[in-house]
Amino acid sequence: MPTNSQVAFKRELLNTDNNQTTTATLQDNLVNLVDLALLLKQAHWNVVGTNFRSLHLQLDAIIETVRAGSDDIAERIATLGIAADGRSQTVARNSHLHEYPEGMLSVEETVQHVADELHATVTELRNAIQRLGELDPISEDLCIGICASLEKHLWMLQAQEKSN
Ligand SMILES: [Fe+2]
Repeated sequence: MPTNSQVAFKRELLNTDNNQTTTATLQDNLVNLVDLALLLKQAHWNVVGTNFRSLHLQLDAIIETVRAGSDDIAERIATLGIAADGRSQTVARNSHLHEYPEGMLSVEETVQHVADELHATVTELRNAIQRLGELDPISEDLCIGICASLEKHLWMLQAQEKSN
């Protein structure tokens, strides 16, 4: 019996069990991405220090990728007949990310915190990719594309960290 969180489309794409696990996996990653986009704006506004401007602008470029990724994942969930849940309360309750520190942060601290949370996000996406391989290759492919873009951003952040 469909609830208002699902639509029983006439033409199903996946069997019921696979559909449920696939959309739950996508939903887990949706909240991470919504949280990450908010966290990145917080970092964008509050970074201070020498050469802050390049990181300030770099963070906006990452946000663009993250927002596009969250939109694609939410719309994949909807395509599978389930309501995507990107409400702030749901995000706060279910996100795997840590709370971002309050106040102004130096360039070095900002890079470290953002890189840690980006890493947490791609780790969850990689776990999802493993599970989705068996369930739905289209959702798997979507997550692979998003993960690849985020890992490239992670590289560009990590390359700024001092190695000693
Ligand atoms: Fe801005």
